[in-house]
Amino acid sequence: MRFDVVTLFPEMIKAAVAFGVTGKALERNLVQLSVWNPRDYTQDRHRTVDDRPYGGGPGMVMKYQPLHDALMDAKQSGGECVKMDAVKVVYLSPQGKPVNQALLNEAAQLSQLVLVAGRYEGVDERFIQWDCDEEWSIGDYVISGGELAALVIMDGITRLLPHVLGDDQSANQDSYNDGLLEYPHFTRPEHLAGWSVPKVLTGGNHADIARWRLKQALGRTWQKRPDLLKNKQLDAEQANLLQQFKNELDVKGCSDE
Ligand SMILES: C[S@@+](CC[C@H](N)C(=O)[O-])C[C@H]1O[C@@H](n2cnc3c(N)ncnc32)[C@H](O)[C@@H]1O
Repeated sequence: MRFDVVTLFPEMIKAAVAFGVTGKALERNLVQLSVWNPRDYTQDRHRTVDDRPYGGGPGMVMKYQPLHDALMDAKQSGGECVKMDAVKVVYLSPQGKPVNQALLNEAAQLSQLVLVAGRYEGVDERFIQWDCDEEWSIGDYVISGGELAALVIMDGITRLLPHVLGDDQSANQDSYNDGLLEYPHFTRPEHLAGWSVPKVLTGGNHADIARWRLKQALGRTWQKRPDLLKNKQLDAEQANLLQQFKNELDVKGCSDE
């Protein structure tokens, strides 16, 4: 898969992707990334990328032409091997579709994702309407530019791609993939300040461990994100495990209900 980021701050993108999972995936050529600076596509000697908003008001707006020309090069960089129906151009915006795990899973099927990072008050509306397929938001808050949003999205997608994580199952088990938060993890030492690792995890019975983990995943989703359970149809075993989790809390005397 290839990512292209249209940004006034290409160095910000290049620096941040160099670490960890994304850095390794780039090194191993499991993903490709190019950055495109609209400033390189300006046509005046001041290399102007922004201008005042019509109608007045604070701040500046990114101009259409440099963005459009940068985007054209970004789209073409995929070459002929990229099928056009597997390419998406996304403007990053607080007004966009909320980014969640389902959206990232879908995006991981694309051949090329072009992410456009705005700055200032944003971009000329005609660029969004004419040149972009979708708008995506990383949350109901405003940050200063789309670069951090692009980095979040590229990281989230990269870890879903085949062979990127050491164990391809690891992303499947993460929170949100099956509509639940993930179960808790423990590592050595087994006993720490009076808190011992649950016995089932050291017993070596894989079926028991899987049941315990599912129960914990259901229980902590119920505790921390009950809204997720409202959208999920639990089967009989899951409903039973969740009830067990609640009963055990009652025994400890700390139920939320
Ligand atoms: C200061 S913001 C502009 C906000 C815009 N004036 C508004 O109120 O909708 C500058 C840029 O940051 C990016 N941005 C800000 N918040 C974002 C969010 N929640 N998700 C994705 N991108 C965001 C967008 O690319 C935006 O063009």
